[in-house]
Amino acid sequence: MAAITLNVNGRERTVDVADDATLLDTLRNQLDLKGARFGCGLEQCGACTVLVDGAPVYSCTRPVHDLAGRSVTTIEGLSRDGRLDPLQEAFVAEQAGQCGYCLSGIILSARALLDATPHPTRAEIVAALDRHLCRCGSHNRILRAVERAAAQGSARHG
Ligand code: FES
Ligand code: FES
Repeated sequence: MAAITLNVNGRERTVDVADDATLLDTLRNQLDLKGARFGCGLEQCGACTVLVDGAPVYSCTRPVHDLAGRSVTTIEGLSRDGRLDPLQEAFVAEQAGQCGYCLSGIILSARALLDATPHPTRAEIVAALDRHLCRCGSHNRILRAVERAAAQGSARHG
């Protein structure tokens, strides 16, 4: 066990975790942030995706001890003052989820895309989400949701 400090959703957090703890373990079991999901544990499905310094990473395999001083954003960190991120609102408007298991990771990858490329082509959206699986087959609605957010102006609140 060893302590590590990282910034999670804008707050400095210090946790005491096992030497081989993953970021996903730490978020879910130490910090009670359950939005990132365990799917495959093998970097194959994307359910565990969070942002580290604004870039999507598979948290299921990322050793948390590599992340001292880095900034992590989970799905819980996207809303501001009780308001959903515009991208989340677009997913609701398009009814882009069924079970929702895949969505926190997909929304975070899409958030990173729109932060870098506010008006992506459909091909760019597909490429950015290629790291994700949706077992419910909601892919077309998910793509429409990202396009809707881009068309409406996708900047984050505040
Ligand atoms: S749980 Fe991490 S990629 Fe599937
Ligand atoms: S909405 Fe069920 S896995 Fe994507």
